[in-house]
Amino acid sequence: MAMNEQQQLAVVTGANKGIGFETARQLGQKGITVLVGARDDAKARLAAEKLRKDGIDAHGVVIDVNDAASITRAAAQVERDYSLLDILINNAGVMLDDQKKKPSEQSLEVWRKTFDTNLFGLIATTQAFLPLLRKSDGGRIVNLSSILGSIHFHATPGSPIYDNKVAAYNVSKSAVNAFTVQLAYELKDTPMKVNAAHPGWVKTEMGGEGATMEISDGAKTSVALATVGPDGPNGAFLHMGETLPW
Ligand SMILES: NC(=O)c1ccc[n+]([C@@H]2O[C@H](COP(=O)([O-])OP(=O)(O)OC[C@H]3O[C@@H](n4cnc5c(N)ncnc54)[C@H](OP(=O)(O)O)[C@@H]3O)[C@@H](O)[C@H]2O)c1
Repeated sequence: MAMNEQQQLAVVTGANKGIGFETARQLGQKGITVLVGARDDAKARLAAEKLRKDGIDAHGVVIDVNDAASITRAAAQVERDYSLLDILINNAGVMLDDQKKKPSEQSLEVWRKTFDTNLFGLIATTQAFLPLLRKSDGGRIVNLSSILGSIHFHATPGSPIYDNKVAAYNVSKSAVNAFTVQLAYELKDTPMKVNAAHPGWVKTEMGGEGATMEISDGAKTSVALATVGPDGPNGAFLHMGETLPW
């Protein structure tokens, strides 16, 4: 696909709805070409079509972060069509905990499935796209974390999330934070940057109706970190420009 030299390219996983879809829209409104990732081909196409109707250069791409073959195919497709990638938003995520259960009671199945998507899927996607991000003038990776991944806040009585012990989800996001720091070290002498984003408590299917933030605001942290300049952070954990404690 033809792009002029300055045109940037982003891949957003889990972009058929929620924060991912809105992130794709806001990146697109900045003139960035967006590949709208979804685990289902029809959902990917439909979401891209909706964005194109708003004048955004959007295309669907099938990425199931739990399916190595689909990730490999997506990366090969990007290499074939665009030869490099500027922005990867690791947005796909699940919250599977039985919220009536205590941390010690969540089933191992829930722990494993949660980690498969939120951590191992994110790592697999990053590994597949890293060679293409290295070809960009300044590759950016945004890992969707959560304030619920903050070990400091979980260990601090009175913190805003002290009583929110959704254990498998929370620990998977703590691990996403830890991975972000490891990768940031690897990238520190390159033009690339990787950061962890807390979008806020956002009115999506996952966030629920009690959430305090609109989706349009929930995408802002991802978009800001996707578009930081060369002096921007690397290996940070941020919400709307504010640093959160690990
Ligand atoms: N909403 C909040 O308040 C909040 C707060 C902090 C962090 N976050 C994080 O922000 C991210 C987006 O959340 P959201 O609120 O927009 O959730 P959402 O509305 O439930 O959307 C989640 C997205 O992830 C996709 N997904 C799930 N498993 C996948 C897989 N194996 N492969 C590819 N895509 C997959 C879903 O696809 P399907 O439609 O096919 O299921 C969907 O597109 C998540 O990482 C979440 O943990 C959200």
